Amino acid sequence: MRKKVIIGTAILGAILVTAQAWSSQPTVQEIMDTRVDPSADALWGSVGWVESRQGASFRQPKTAQQWQALRVHAETLIAGAVLLGKARQVGSNGYSALADTDTPGVRTAVQIQQDIAADPAKFAAAARRLEDAGRAAAAAIQGKSGTRLVEAGARIDGACEACHAAYWYPRTAPLRLPGSAEYARFPSRSAPNPPHPQFAN
Ligand code: HEC
Repeated sequence: MRKKVIIGTAILGAILVTAQAWSSQPTVQEIMDTRVDPSADALWGSVGWVESRQGASFRQPKTAQQWQALRVHAETLIAGAVLLGKARQVGSNGYSALADTDTPGVRTAVQIQQDIAADPAKFAAAARRLEDAGRAAAAAIQGKSGTRLVEAGARIDGACEACHAAYWYPRTAPLRLPGSAEYARFPSRSAPNPPHPQFAN
């Protein structure tokens, strides 16, 4: 009897521990919406060229506090990327449906989940790319260099897009480049906006 109780407790404990581990692991959507997306937006919006009547000027943080605030965003991005590298759950975070599911061809949560499970190291490498770009941003912020932060921002964007293209966006066939015979059919190359052969009737 006593043995049964002990075994029962052990099983219950194992279930609780498993449930705990499961629920404490954020979904990809949670990581995107609470860490990766807002921090990247803050970094992208903090530096760049602005046009005004006086001409173009480069904008970047001015005060130590502003740089410090950016550091927090870079750290959030890095932490989000690290979490993402371990993320295995794809699906709604319970607050909102996945974004863009009504766009034709967008991969479903189940498909994305399967693709990640098929090769977790590949997904982790894509997350690592974001982490490295985030570290480049942190280094630029440390050195208070707006131009380096712009470069790091482009790297961050590249890391977002590469992963989204591989796992999330519709898998469309690449557009065909028209051959020279098709180009030759156009009467004049200098005509404004010649129709693309694929859309011409
Ligand atoms: C390692 C892969 C990976 C990287 C890197 C990545 N994402 Fe994502 N992201 C995904 C996947 C997979 C989805 C689709 C599933 C989902 O929406 O949860 C997604 C969805 C999103 C969504 C929609 C979330 C929702 O509500 O459904 C946003 C916004 C987003 N990503 C922003 C970003 C930005 C910004 C970056 C770069 C700073 C980035 N992501 C980098 C994998 C990645």
